[in-house]
Parts: sequence; structure tokens; C-alpha cells
Amino acid sequence: MTLWGGRFSTKLNDQAWDLNSSLPVDQRMAIQDVDGSLAWAGALHKANILSDEEYTSISLGLDTAKAEFDSGEFLFVPSDEDIHTAVERRLTELIGVTAGKLHTGRSRNDQVATDFRLWMLQAIPHLLSAFSLLQTTLVEQAELAGETLMPGYTHLQRAQPILLSHWWLSHYHPLQRDRERFTDLIKRVSILPLGSGALAGTPVPVDRAALAESLGFAVASPNSLDSVSDRDFAAEFLFCATMTGIHLSKLSEQIVLYTSTEFGFFELSDAFSTGSSLMPQKKNPDVFELTRGKAGTLIGLLTGLLATLKGLPSTYDKDLQEDKAPVFMATDTLLAVLPVIAGALRTITTKPERMRNAIDSFMMATDLADYLVSKGIPFRETHVIAGKAVRVAVEQHVQLEELSLEAYQALSPAFEADVYQVFDPLKSIEKRNAIGGTSLQSVKNQIQQIKGD
Ligand code: ARG
Repeated sequence: MTLWGGRFSTKLNDQAWDLNSSLPVDQRMAIQDVDGSLAWAGALHKANILSDEEYTSISLGLDTAKAEFDSGEFLFVPSDEDIHTAVERRLTELIGVTAGKLHTGRSRNDQVATDFRLWMLQAIPHLLSAFSLLQTTLVEQAELAGETLMPGYTHLQRAQPILLSHWWLSHYHPLQRDRERFTDLIKRVSILPLGSGALAGTPVPVDRAALAESLGFAVASPNSLDSVSDRDFAAEFLFCATMTGIHLSKLSEQIVLYTSTEFGFFELSDAFSTGSSLMPQKKNPDVFELTRGKAGTLIGLLTGLLATLKGLPSTYDKDLQEDKAPVFMATDTLLAVLPVIAGALRTITTKPERMRNAIDSFMMATDLADYLVSKGIPFRETHVIAGKAVRVAVEQHVQLEELSLEAYQALSPAFEADVYQVFDPLKSIEKRNAIGGTSLQSVKNQIQQIKGD
């Protein structure tokens, strides 16, 4: 049974049928399709289009279909073009011709947009809990890190010492922004298209506000033409997912780097690393590399949908059928990646000595300049003097802390014996005590604020 056969003298070409059919993708919205239909049947009943008996029969039939989906017993047949057809076909088998009344005043255009939004409204909370797990892990690691120091990098060159806990939290905040983006998106998903008809609105006198409420939407869409073609929510969802993917990719890149023998800041647990079929010594960070790789795929899904939407004429066009697969794939990707990254980070071993040994006194060159600032010299001058000290030390193949007091005083008479205190990395860290800085207190405050949120 197709839903549109009457006007045609022959059936659709087999290959065209395959191209047109969306069941393999949209059967994932089966429950939402039934829920939308139950609500629509209710609206038709209220509008006196369905009698009491018809409404009861349709509702019971839909309940049965839903139970079949839940138990995995629902059987699709080759003529099911999409999930909407499948549900209506089954309803007809269950209750007979009355099923044909359900589609009164409704189109698959408002129906599919409704199903898709309903699906997304239930998917977002799943994603949010997956975020929580990883974020909790990051905060736990930050707390465990205590006073562990590590080198901070800019341009991947040693820059300034930081607290490891500060670094862990630097990966918490991007994820928090991602969460907020997903949460904020809910209000733009929670708009009901049902009752927009194919494009011009439904002739059935339905109370769309009540219909919206019955399905858990915040409001009914204000313009039927826009409503059947609006896929902003799908594009936004993909952006949120892609941004998350990019954050996870950046984190992964650092873990890949820091677990290398050259850095050796962390070691992955065996449960989250993989071996080589050839080289027995290898312990590979595949899960992080895959996460980094999947960020590329997510970017493709987002740009793909944006390209589909660009230049579509007003209202529904079949191009829009391309909207669901990328959203489903992005969701599956994040739901697969987030718990694995959480697990891998929860079980990672930190190597505080390796981190500490990677901090050299050149990383306190800024503190050296700040030292002279405390003696009243303008920073622009102290930056030059400290730079000269670096040059002398490099030329002499020594560390900054190994330069003699005479050598310092030759650069500026303001240097005194207490200059050597600036080469203590913990002192450097403790000075950075303003909100957001790397000092122990500042990071403690960050943790407290996060936990209070
Ligand atoms: N499978 C379609 C989709 O996903 C459902 C809407 C079909 N509408 C239509 N006018 N053919 O977009």
C-alpha cells in the first residue's frame, strides 16, 4: 500500500522506489510517529471528525502497534515506504478501513517534522547525561591532581608552569558550553509542526496549542509554510554535536601527544589502549585517535545538511528527507565516544615526575620580568632585560637559574640575591591568583563553583 497511488496508472519503478524509500532511516522514529498519530487522533476526535468508537478503535490499534515496536515484534513489509506508511498500514490490518480516517487534515510533511522534533527532544537528555559522566571524570581528575605541576604550552612550545588540575578543568568548560548549547536548543526544537498540513495549514478545526501541550511541545508553530520546511533545529543540533566533537578532538590530540614516550605525562590503562599486530611493544591510543577522526566526520555531517538546505524553495521539498541520517549518526557518534573517553580518562595514570621534569627555568622568564617590575621598572623594559638573560643562558648552555648574580646584575643593577626565588614554579603558579588563573586557590574556587553549579 502506498499512501498516494490514486493518481498514477503504473507503480513506481523499482529502483526509484528504493531511492524514494526512507524506512531504513526513519523507522528509528517509530515510537514518535505513533505518539504523534495518537495525539492527532485525539485532535480529530475533539473536532468531531472521529466518533467515540472510531477514536477508541484507532487509539487501541495505535497502542498495539506501539507495543509491537517496543517488543520488536512489529513486522515491516516491502511496501512500507516510510515509517508513516508502515504505521498506517499496520493500523489498517488491525482495525480495518477506519484507519483511513487518521490522516484527515494531516500530511506527511507536518507529520515527519513532528516526529523528528519529538525524537530530538528525547535524544538531547541522553546526550546530556553522557556529557555529565565525562565532566564528572574531568572534575574528579582535577581534584586528584592536587598540587601536581605541569608545563603549559603555547604554540606547543614550553610557556609557563600550570597546575595539572587547571589543565583538566580547561577541558571541562568547553563541554559545559556544549551542554548549554544543547539545552538552549530545546526551546527551538519544542515547536509543534503538526496541524500545518502539507503547507497551507489544516482545514480541521484543531486547537493546536492544546495539541502541542498534549505532545509535550512548548508551543505550536506560528507559520505553516515555514513549519513544514524548518530544519534549523537539525542544523543547530549538528552544530552542537560538531562543536562537541571538536572539543573532544582537541582533548584527544593532547592525550595522544602526552601519552607518547617523548612526553610521557600520562599512561593509558590497558582497558583503553590497543596493540599492534606487528610491533609487540606498542600501546596505542586508538580511542582518542578515533575521537579525533570522528570530529572530521561530524563536520561533514553538518556541512552536508547545510548544503542540502541552501537554496531550497519554500515549504517541503524531498531534499529534506536527507535531514535525519546525519542527525542520527551524529547522536550515535557522541553516545559512543563520550563514555569511552570518560572511561579512558578515569583510568589514566598520571606521571607527575615527567611533568615536573619538563618544567625548566626558562618557563619562569616572565616571572623574571615581573620581578624587575616589582622593583619599579616598566614591563616593556623588564621584558627586554629578561630576554637578554635568556640569550646569555642559552649561549652559555645553562639554565636561567644557573646564571650568576653578577651576570644578572650586568643586565640590570636592580637584580638582587632574591632573584633566584622566581625560578620556583610553584611560586610562579601561586602568583596567578586572579579569577581563572592557575593558582591553587583559584583552581580550588573553580572546582567549588563547578560543583555548586
Ligand atoms: N520520508 C519523508 C521525509 O523524511 C516524509 C515526508 C514525505 N512527504 C512528501 N511530501 N513526500 O521527509
